[in-house]
Amino acid sequence: MTSKARAVLLSLLLCGVAAPVLAQTAKRAQTPPVPAILATPEARDIHSYAQPLVARVTHVDLDLTADFVGHKMTGTAALDIAAAPGAKEVILDTKGLVIHGVTDAKSKALPWSLGKADPILGAPLTVQLNGAKRIVVAYDSAPGGAALQWLTPSQTAGKKSPYLFSQGEAILNRSWIPTQDSPGVRQTWTARIVAPKGLKAVMSARMLTPNGEPLPGKLGADGSRAYRFSMDKPVASYLIAIAIGDLTFTPLGKRTGVYTEPSVMKKTANELVDVEKMVAAAESLYGPYAWGRYDLLVLPPSFPFGGMENPRLTFATPTIIAGDRSLVSLVAHELAHSWSGNLVNNATWSDFWLNEGFTDYFENRIMETLYGKPRADMLADLGWSDLQAAIKDAGGLSGADTRLHLDLTGRDPDDGMTDIAYQKGATFLRTIEKAVGRPRWDAYLKSYFARHAFQSQTTAGFVADLRQNLIKGDPKLEAAIGIDQWVYEVGLPGNAVHVKSAAFPAVDALAAAYAQGGPVPLAKWKVWSTPERTRFVASLPRALSTERLATLDKAFGLSAQGNSEIRFVWLELAVANRYQPAVPSLEAFLTEQGRRKFVAPLFKDLMAQGDWGQPIAKALYARTRPLYHAVTRQTVDGIVK
Ligand code: BES
Ligand code: ZN
Repeated sequence: MTSKARAVLLSLLLCGVAAPVLAQTAKRAQTPPVPAILATPEARDIHSYAQPLVARVTHVDLDLTADFVGHKMTGTAALDIAAAPGAKEVILDTKGLVIHGVTDAKSKALPWSLGKADPILGAPLTVQLNGAKRIVVAYDSAPGGAALQWLTPSQTAGKKSPYLFSQGEAILNRSWIPTQDSPGVRQTWTARIVAPKGLKAVMSARMLTPNGEPLPGKLGADGSRAYRFSMDKPVASYLIAIAIGDLTFTPLGKRTGVYTEPSVMKKTANELVDVEKMVAAAESLYGPYAWGRYDLLVLPPSFPFGGMENPRLTFATPTIIAGDRSLVSLVAHELAHSWSGNLVNNATWSDFWLNEGFTDYFENRIMETLYGKPRADMLADLGWSDLQAAIKDAGGLSGADTRLHLDLTGRDPDDGMTDIAYQKGATFLRTIEKAVGRPRWDAYLKSYFARHAFQSQTTAGFVADLRQNLIKGDPKLEAAIGIDQWVYEVGLPGNAVHVKSAAFPAVDALAAAYAQGGPVPLAKWKVWSTPERTRFVASLPRALSTERLATLDKAFGLSAQGNSEIRFVWLELAVANRYQPAVPSLEAFLTEQGRRKFVAPLFKDLMAQGDWGQPIAKALYARTRPLYHAVTRQTVDGIVK
């Protein structure tokens, strides 16, 4: 280099043109530090083989082709590894993956081995690093794996094209991605996905090629396209999600929109008109939305959940499309997870309540902000009933799983995912809110999300933060809340706040009167909101005469209800009474959608009805089982036997 050139370079460096580039290179080369929370004993994840303190995945690059004939994803996952000094190997989670080989970034083969498979956890994939900071795993997704559901055209709205979607939470993604599938390990990621002709791929990330790139050469000739995605914020692996199908997009606002199949787009977009306002309401409570866009994907009806908070792209069941926007609290819930769950997420599945309890609380605050206190109170009061039912299901107030912090030793994390996490969790937060007052509580929550943004959190970590930043050594406040009892002990503390809807006593009275032979409250029904209707049907005594059931069914059109929540509580009542005329409606409902929250309780109710219900359940499940996602199947397999 001439001295002149050197001088130019130096002046460039000094005026800051080249400096950021150099700094970035230097930063990359350094091993990123282990997040402090991961080093705490409470953060040890018994549902992952990973040893993140030894070697941790920090970034994933997927390059996969969706094979709709072989029902598999096939390609490579390249992983950046942050290894402690002297670490020789990295351990990944896999479940049923077909591993073809592992190399370093220069295609040099690395020794690897798959350990013994556990029925819940799958098998550890141990890779010898030989100094590599990046490894490339060539593989196929697990045949019949639990995360991916490959739908036939008949299972879609359009009936013409096949469809694929994934569900990662809790530990299902290891059946299609070889990475550290532990919620305490956050990873940035990118993906290149090849989808067949005419189908569009979407993922929970920034979509870099919204219309795909036609592929050159042979591949392109069959009309397949490659789609590219990038998530530059570190997220837990369960939040990596994909869907491929005949998808179209409609904007809902400046930074919001919805993807779904063309034939259902009109009613879907119409149902979701308030989404942009919801994002603003959520931000006004707990600080800026951190993920850029907020879009939804409304899936085919076999999607096993109401919703799943995949970052930037909430996945939702079509059963919330009621026609009257009455079930949009589900969107408020999944959106709320953008803070409680995605920004700050549970470090282990024992801390699941940190995701769902916070989110249920936050969902209700969004609903209150947008639609007022009466509607929010109705939803919270229904939640209180769900809490009572969950306590009963858990074996009563002394049931071990009534704890917020769960003991999942030797169990599938799914076993602990009950309404306790949601409803006892939300009730705990309401109880704190009442003790300190809303302004102080809101300020604390906002600061909590800011302090822990893009980090995982344990129950112990939250409790310590609460003491340090809210309680601040105030003994009266500490006693008024009783944090340890709430979090670590069974049952429901005496200070639990029960939000009561002012509208429900009148509804309950009419239900009681109807059960006693009183009139059908048809005029009321017509003006009641969905929560009031749900409450009316759910609060009727479980033993009703055939005449009472038939009169109600006819007056309210219950068996033909398009509103899935009302249809569900009606069918529960019908089954409890062995009400034969509702069986066709029941069979249709269990065939047309596969949402576990509806499907599992109805099969359970049927099985509880001995020689009347069991034959119906068995014959029906034989037909519907192939239609359900693995999540729903696994639960119902345990019920219908
Ligand atoms: N994250 C959950 C769904 C989930 C829970 C997936 C456990 C896997 C394991 C999601 O945010 C959720 O809570 N969905 C609810 C709806 C909500 C309005 C209560 C559901 O699916 O019913
Ligand atoms: Zn949730």
